[in-house]
Amino acid sequence: MDMFQVYQPFDIRIVKGVRCYVFDDKGTRYLDLYGGHAVIQIGHSHPYYNQKMIEQLHRLAFYSNSVINEEQHKFIKKLETQCGYPDYSVFLVNSGAEAVENALKLASFHTGRKRVLAFRKAFHGRTSLAVQASDFPAFRAPINQSDNVTFVPLNDREAVQEELAKEEYAAVIFEGIQGLGGINVPDDGFLRWLREECTRRGTVLVADEIQSGYGRSGRFFAHQYAHIKADIVAVAKGIANGFPMAAILVHPMFKAVKGQLGTTFGGNHLACAAASAVLDVMQDEHLVENAEKVGTYLIHALKTMPGIREVRGRGLMIGLEFDFPVKQLRESLLYDYHIFTGISGTNVIRLLPPLTLTTEQADDFISALKKAMEQIKTSIQQ
Ligand SMILES: Cc1ncc(COP(=O)(O)O)c(C=O)c1O
Repeated sequence: MDMFQVYQPFDIRIVKGVRCYVFDDKGTRYLDLYGGHAVIQIGHSHPYYNQKMIEQLHRLAFYSNSVINEEQHKFIKKLETQCGYPDYSVFLVNSGAEAVENALKLASFHTGRKRVLAFRKAFHGRTSLAVQASDFPAFRAPINQSDNVTFVPLNDREAVQEELAKEEYAAVIFEGIQGLGGINVPDDGFLRWLREECTRRGTVLVADEIQSGYGRSGRFFAHQYAHIKADIVAVAKGIANGFPMAAILVHPMFKAVKGQLGTTFGGNHLACAAASAVLDVMQDEHLVENAEKVGTYLIHALKTMPGIREVRGRGLMIGLEFDFPVKQLRESLLYDYHIFTGISGTNVIRLLPPLTLTTEQADDFISALKKAMEQIKTSIQQ
């Protein structure tokens, strides 16, 4: 039997991780500026996290939502004090796409409407509703095609206004910072306007903070730079540091109807123990502040470097756009300098490191990037 190979893996076997580093089966150490795709929030193999997981595993790994689960309440209490949404309730699921799926369903149940407004270059996941709301047509199968989703350019007030005036939209969904679409930051002023416009038109505002959330941007949620509140916030990826876990935060105006939403695994004991441990570490180690500090340092240094067309992002969610496809540059960083990075499309290198990154590690990246860019320039000239 073989894998159904929908990925293009590097020929590297990662077998161990410590804080911001991962190690392959030959013992080579790599600086991880990719965080396993924005998932490793508090660093690899954090001892406190490991201990909490082991303790929970010894007690109980799983029981269903048919009983009261104290681990859920412990997690939610911690979330309440950190996230800026203390009066919201929480529905726990397993993956980002599932969170988005439930957010849009809830918006539709609540408003009785079925249309969704999304933004160009948006990515919200691979399940049916999430993929329809993603501006990546190649990811959509014929069965996912519908006229329910309209895309408008990010930050385009006129286009949004024209659509919302129809008063047919259940939801507007936006990413705190667009990830797969190339690290595009919505204007704070646009988000403030969008918030008001959604309220005026009876449309639910859904913030997808799956990649930009939980501290990565230097705020707990990236949209908090605009000082707004969404009606539903979707989170996933780093919230349990690699253990599959996701959630939606739900405004008190939504009525919880028994049986309307549901999941087998969502909010299980082990997942909640993992997510609680992440919040403890984030608070104890001031990781939101660290993301802002080291991210600002890194963005400033990258902006002063010649050869990069544009540096975008906030905190430790950074995109470097080049005038050329970055495949070779990314491979050089990986194989010559042992640094993992991500990409968006063809010309953007994406940085999504653990939020524990230090300025020294940021300096290591900058010096490797300079050398790798020099090497590529020389090879093009030859
Ligand atoms: C902004 C955003 N939304 C949703 C998703 C989907 O999350 P998952 O892969 O956990 O389903 C992703 C994943 O990359 C994402 O970046």
